[in-house]
Amino acid sequence: MAEIAVEAGEVPAQLPQVSVAVLGAGKMGGILLQAFLKENLFAPEQIHATVAHAERAVALSSQWGVNVSTDNLDAAKRADLILVGVKPFQVPDLIKEISPALTPAKTVVSFAASVKTRAIEEAAGVEVGVIRAMPNTPSALGAGVAALCRGRFVSEQQMELAQRIFATVGRTVIVDEKHMDAVTGLSGSGPAYLYIIIEALAEAGVKVGLPRDVATQLAAQTAFGAAKMVLETGYHPALLKDAVTTPAGCTIDGILELEEGGLRVTLIKAVMRATERARQLAAG
Ligand SMILES: NC(=O)c1ccc[n+]([C@@H]2O[C@H](COP(=O)([O-])OP(=O)(O)OC[C@H]3O[C@@H](n4cnc5c(N)ncnc54)[C@H](OP(=O)(O)O)[C@@H]3O)[C@@H](O)[C@H]2O)c1
Repeated sequence: MAEIAVEAGEVPAQLPQVSVAVLGAGKMGGILLQAFLKENLFAPEQIHATVAHAERAVALSSQWGVNVSTDNLDAAKRADLILVGVKPFQVPDLIKEISPALTPAKTVVSFAASVKTRAIEEAAGVEVGVIRAMPNTPSALGAGVAALCRGRFVSEQQMELAQRIFATVGRTVIVDEKHMDAVTGLSGSGPAYLYIIIEALAEAGVKVGLPRDVATQLAAQTAFGAAKMVLETGYHPALLKDAVTTPAGCTIDGILELEEGGLRVTLIKAVMRATERARQLAAG
């Protein structure tokens, strides 16, 4: 994901007193790190990132202008706030590797799917505040949503800090940890489902004679507008759908096809399957 274009909105103030490590600065970690820089939440010298491959560390260091290495322990030692972005099965080993740097004064925020706060606390071997987060890729444009849940040793200030971090890339919600796999199946994976829906709508536009670029714009802006209506009016989506659906008009014919094709059930099953898979990921 190359360019970041975070919309000006509620811009959180800079956190000059906090240094941050992003351990596993891949797709998601990179999105967060670039958003922090773009939003001036952290100055480049406050950020220490790591990846697995030394040559990638060198390339990212010059691309982002921050310190990127392969030394997790060193990055964790330098940081007050430690973001964990490696693959779920790698998390326990990574936490053990950095455990000499962990103290109750530090905050660990893991955005790895599936990995429970308790597993991280146990690997840490110290009463460190662990927050689990599930962001999504529209965070790259400041339009993400992240669900957060707290481990056993998290203070209010630590939770507020995590919320401020994720507020730079979109909305945040706080949930009980038992819901985190469901969040993964819905909003973590959800952008992929919606891209397929937008792609299909654009394809449909082409089928009924629209130029592809026009059809894609119409489909994407319609999805964006409908989402904005739900979020900003607070109306139930069914009520908003009813307002588009004139008796004996065109929309009801379209809806009939959607129902016959089982769109609702298919989406519900997709989220159920992804949630189920999220429950298994930490095991590798
Ligand atoms: N992608 C999403 O939409 C999304 C959304 C929410 C949460 N997540 C979570 O984010 C995590 C990463 O997913 P991703 O899609 O960003 O994957 P990714 O692009 O493969 O990123 C993983 C990164 O971890 C690095 N890494 C691997 N082993 C390491 C180690 N021992 N020490 C330090 N860094 C190491 C890799 O380095 P190299 O680049 O050198 O290989 C890579 O940069 C996963 O746990 C996933 O569940 C992803």
